[in-house]
Amino acid sequence: MARRPQDLKHRSREVTEGPQRAPARAYLRSMGLRDEDIARPFVGIANTWNDVMPCQINLDAIGRKVREGIRSAGGTPREFNTIAVSDGIAMGHEGMRASLVSREIIADSIELMIHAHGYDALVTVAGCDKTIPGSLMALARLNVPGVFTYGGTMLPGRYEGRDVTIQDVFEAVGAYAAGRIDAAALDALERAACPGAGTCAGLYTANTMASCAEALGMALSGDAAIPTLDPARIDHSVRVGEAALRVLELGIRPRDVLVREAFENAIALDAAMGGSTNAVLHLLAIAHEARVKLTIDDFERISRRTPHLVTMKPAGKYVMSDLHKAGGVPIVLRRLLDAGKIHGDALTVTGARIRDVLRDVSRTIPGDIVARIDRPLSPSGTLAILKGNLAPDGAVVKTALVKHLRHRGPARVFDAEQEAFAAAQDREIRPQEVVVIRYEGPRGGPGMREMLAMTAALVGQGLGDEVALITDGRFSGATRGLMVGHVSPEAWEGGPIALLRDGDVIEVDVPERKLRVELTKADLAKRRKSWRRPKPRYPRGALAKYAKLVGSAARGAVCE
Ligand code: FES
Repeated sequence: MARRPQDLKHRSREVTEGPQRAPARAYLRSMGLRDEDIARPFVGIANTWNDVMPCQINLDAIGRKVREGIRSAGGTPREFNTIAVSDGIAMGHEGMRASLVSREIIADSIELMIHAHGYDALVTVAGCDKTIPGSLMALARLNVPGVFTYGGTMLPGRYEGRDVTIQDVFEAVGAYAAGRIDAAALDALERAACPGAGTCAGLYTANTMASCAEALGMALSGDAAIPTLDPARIDHSVRVGEAALRVLELGIRPRDVLVREAFENAIALDAAMGGSTNAVLHLLAIAHEARVKLTIDDFERISRRTPHLVTMKPAGKYVMSDLHKAGGVPIVLRRLLDAGKIHGDALTVTGARIRDVLRDVSRTIPGDIVARIDRPLSPSGTLAILKGNLAPDGAVVKTALVKHLRHRGPARVFDAEQEAFAAAQDREIRPQEVVVIRYEGPRGGPGMREMLAMTAALVGQGLGDEVALITDGRFSGATRGLMVGHVSPEAWEGGPIALLRDGDVIEVDVPERKLRVELTKADLAKRRKSWRRPKPRYPRGALAKYAKLVGSAARGAVCE
């Protein structure tokens, strides 16, 4: 049964009540709060808005609607911002080292704001790759009643009669370098690909993680796929604000929702959708904050038993707004539920079980964006965890529509992404080679850069099916081809990837889940004797601090 509003000030009472809190109330009054506003529960809105990237630029409007919902449901909204890094703009240069670090700063800053101001509930509003996991990590860590909401996807652009996204622009850079398109075509594509506000339009990391938030039960049903400029996003955002008061009344806390079954549901959804490999890193990190024991092997186990159903970019032809038209993430979850592939009893922030949330979702799905369960795109999901003498702790690969799942070839070793990219631009990468990019892990980078510029350059040159790439860094959700990331232990820690030399024969065997180099234990031990850790790239500042604290990618690259 719902409690009376004054019972809901379980944290903010300490800030707003009693004679000794007169100074705090004086500040609140100076901002226009009346007695009745101060008497209500305070709901923080952690908004990752900024105007440096299209995926954040609309979040202030969404925040205003969330405020409306909070007020109409009897709460007092208190909104604040966090930082946010655009992976798309940071991609391919030193700036990308800041991206994964920002996930921790976002989680930490939300934690500190809620800790300092004693808010009773929390809504997080996020819209890019790291803001989503950062927000969910904060909700799990704080365990204050709360709801996650997403900014929404960008619509695709149109170029030469087809839908295009930022992925096409990255790949066009490679095609231009290879002389396959001219400067005018590259320019025209650049101008067409991103038609307005919203997150990158395909099933890249932001749309993947927003979908996972729904599967985790931390977002309202339908939250992930509504485009940012769709009027439905406005009504939805008001409902999110109202839901924050309801979750407070019900006394449901994030760690009631973020239990093992919720993570298994999110992994199954990611595998069925063909989502980003970054989901491995981020779900492990959120589970860590929620005190749920989740390992990289859970991804392998669940992906193997989950059919790949959804065809979306980067591997397929559709984008997130197409999924919205077909019914959004709930239609995929419904299909998985009917097939017994997710836990129907998992709790959501609404207080309902996911089975009940999905009860009225149609089983009829228009078009071919979601395959039937008995006719999947492939019988198992799209995430695979490889192990072997090159990755004793594991490595991650996305198999969605990858043509060659077995590859054996000579290593071309680079100690940083820029060196590899320069070689690709100079057309020095040969078919059959295995491109190795190391010292790009969480510690060694630091920051575990994404390699989209490099992988797109290879695809753009027509080498996507001819080469393989392995790295202790990671990939954008827009990466495609046989690209193996998160190789652990990383080079900086002296992992076997640090011992590779040009010409070593590497075998990537996805069906057998193997990643190995044709060297004996004795060969590796001999090379290890002469290995020296390089000097840190960043001896000072936030990146240096991060490098000291961060752990292995195989455990989510969390700072402990
Ligand atoms: Fe933010 Fe792609 S850069 S979603």
